[in-house]
Amino acid sequence: MKEISMHILDIAMNSIKAGASLLEIEITDSEKDNLVKIAIKDNGAGMSEETLKKVTDPFFTTRTTRKVGLGLPMLKGSCERCNGKLEIDSQLGVGTTVLCWFERNNIDRAPMGNMGDTIMTIINSMENCELIYTHGTDRGNFVLNTEEIKNMLDCSSLNDGEVLLWIKDFINENISELSIN
Ligand SMILES: Nc1ncnc2c1ncn2[C@@H]1O[C@H](COP(=O)(O)OP(=O)(O)OP(=O)(O)O)[C@@H](O)[C@H]1O
Ligand SMILES: [Mg+2]
Repeated sequence: MKEISMHILDIAMNSIKAGASLLEIEITDSEKDNLVKIAIKDNGAGMSEETLKKVTDPFFTTRTTRKVGLGLPMLKGSCERCNGKLEIDSQLGVGTTVLCWFERNNIDRAPMGNMGDTIMTIINSMENCELIYTHGTDRGNFVLNTEEIKNMLDCSSLNDGEVLLWIKDFINENISELSIN
């Protein structure tokens, strides 16, 4: 079973590859609503209607190194096994939003995984792109905005080992405070 954070990494990498300058990742983890919901929004190249129709088919990819793109079909499968769904909204030249959800208490629902690691990896892969990451539970919301962190640290890039490790710990500490367990 693939952790949800690993799926998020896959989908965010698509946004980075699509040349996004703004990436928004929003997680809602609600025991009350028995729902884990993920929204990943970018302002990258977007997809044509034709591509959009094909992307949840595992035999479609615009990759040239191998034939099968698996990121979106795997996430779709994971959601549908948990009475959830995956929806994609995309427009060429405008951007893409991937929205998906899982039934939280479903026996097949994968654990969240390590979001600190995942966000650190995403930030390290971004160039000229800002990230707004929101993580909400029944207890409250945590928001991380790379533009704000850059202003706070007075630096133009966060691609520095120490800064990345600090961000990872900062995220994991905040999420564990918001978690229900
Ligand atoms: N955010 C996005 N913006 C623009 N195009 C996208 C986006 N996400 C997916 N696509 C298109 O959909 C295709 C399929 O994506 P998917 O993640 O399923 O596979 P992949 O990225 O090609 O390969 P893999 O994820 O297995 O490395 C991509 O090749 C790309 O053409
Ligand atoms: Mg992909």
